[in-house]
Amino acid sequence: MIPVTKPFLPPQEEYNKYLTGIWRRNWLTNMGPLASELEMKLKEHLKLDHLLYVTNGTVALQMAIKAFDLKGEIITTPFSFVATTSSIVWEGCEPVFVDIEEESLNIDTSKIEAAITENTTAILATHVYGNPCDVVAIEKIARKYHLKVIYDGAHAFGVQINGKSIFEYGDISICSLHATKLYHSIEGGLIITKDATLLKKLAYIRNFGFNGPEAFAELGINGKNSEFHAAMGLANLEYISQITDQRRKLTLQYDDKLKMLRARRPLWHLNSENNFAYYPIVFENETTMLKSMEYLKTHEIFTRRYFYPSLANTLPYLEPQDFEITDKVAQCVLCLPLYPDLSLEEVDFICRLLLRVQNN
Ligand SMILES: Cc1ncc(COP(=O)(O)O)c(C=O)c1O
Repeated sequence: MIPVTKPFLPPQEEYNKYLTGIWRRNWLTNMGPLASELEMKLKEHLKLDHLLYVTNGTVALQMAIKAFDLKGEIITTPFSFVATTSSIVWEGCEPVFVDIEEESLNIDTSKIEAAITENTTAILATHVYGNPCDVVAIEKIARKYHLKVIYDGAHAFGVQINGKSIFEYGDISICSLHATKLYHSIEGGLIITKDATLLKKLAYIRNFGFNGPEAFAELGINGKNSEFHAAMGLANLEYISQITDQRRKLTLQYDDKLKMLRARRPLWHLNSENNFAYYPIVFENETTMLKSMEYLKTHEIFTRRYFYPSLANTLPYLEPQDFEITDKVAQCVLCLPLYPDLSLEEVDFICRLLLRVQNN
């Protein structure tokens, strides 16, 4: 059986070493030494001045919206994971969807201005599959209309533009460190900002708003993460180059073997390099995509329609809305298996099956 993804696990004895320390200190959560060490090492690894390690990417999104006390309408993409939209609704704001670009699959910045009203307070855009949005265009629009910019970089661990971390763009960025992600701490998330004052506020928010044992600075939530999760993050960080190298090899193999497949790859930002988090392909139509998915399934190979369906016309708490490009792409997109344990031979086999479906 070949799953669509499989979490990376470090050698067990390396995780156990961290457990010994946890048992010795008896400090399990509440920003313990491992969580702090992870923050420090991630700042170094990602070349960032500030970041916070939090419970997960969803809480990070909610904390970002709360930190700016956003109200009213937030412009966002319908082609993302549900947490991008649900966080907006959860925080009492209204998502206003803007269609995506056909090539990059990210929010179409040329359509943002038309969606801005006097109630718009922010743009929340996703770097879909880790592929950077047009951050320059978004910044220009945000400046013109005095909007906050939050980036959902759940997939974008390690991505840079012109050598600078993608997480440096916008007012706040978030990342997910969920087990299915390129780099993970079982559950976990990062919240990143360049603004030290804002970071302090976010740190209060992460810890119920506490400012000392008997005082409160903010309305807060429990956004902390545990020492056990941080330990996994630390153990996995040692393997990040290996993980990325292996994913790169597999991706190049797919690229090579699928040259003749009538399906396209999203166009990656020209000043950035893929982090190989996913291997999405967009088929010419839904019928071919479904046929391919089913055929792979008969060989115990599992793919995922990620993201399907469009967030704009399926959530029970929102009025359904159609978007030409999003609807088309969501129907035709398929993510192929990609994880460090996958072998080149398995990739070859998957590619042969896909070409066989096409040629039948
Ligand atoms: C685009 C996007 N945003 C947000 C999230 C939520 O992250 P988490 O699962 O860490 O809460 C995910 C998770 O898959 C995601 O893909």
